[in-house]
Amino acid sequence: MKLSVNGTEHEVDVEPDMPLLWVLRDELGITGPKFGCGIAQCGACTVHVDGLAVRSCQLAAVDVEGSDITTIEGLGTPDNLHVVQEVWIAHQVAQCGYCQSGQIMQAVSLLELNPEPTDDDIDAAMSGNLCRCGTYPRIRAAVKAAAAKLNGV
Ligand code: FES
Ligand code: FES
Repeated sequence: MKLSVNGTEHEVDVEPDMPLLWVLRDELGITGPKFGCGIAQCGACTVHVDGLAVRSCQLAAVDVEGSDITTIEGLGTPDNLHVVQEVWIAHQVAQCGYCQSGQIMQAVSLLELNPEPTDDDIDAAMSGNLCRCGTYPRIRAAVKAAAAKLNGV
């Protein structure tokens, strides 16, 4: 099947029901999305499909043929970070880092759907992304800072 990932078309020879996360990591070597639980309960594997955050561990690759898939690797570059990546660094959100690509992908999707989220909106949108290091207060602060930047405040 053909999958479009970060703007590049890839041809992969996999079982149609192989989860997208496996295809990304094991077939394409795109390792930003992480395996945490495998049952759509932790958010570590979050990527975007046509701009919306999804859990790639529970999404069959065949179901995203023809869609635009974006991983953390396609969000920004070291020289041109996405605003959310910039504020994540400024707020030193990451601790061990394992959950953070999923957190960032979820946060970007939130801000695209809701450019001025309240604390409750942020908590609700991010509640499915678990962090064993407890970075939740910094995540909330960073999302608010990103919203302010994006809104020119
Ligand atoms: S690995 Fe996909 S949600 Fe946990
Ligand atoms: S930063 Fe360690 S699990 Fe979130």
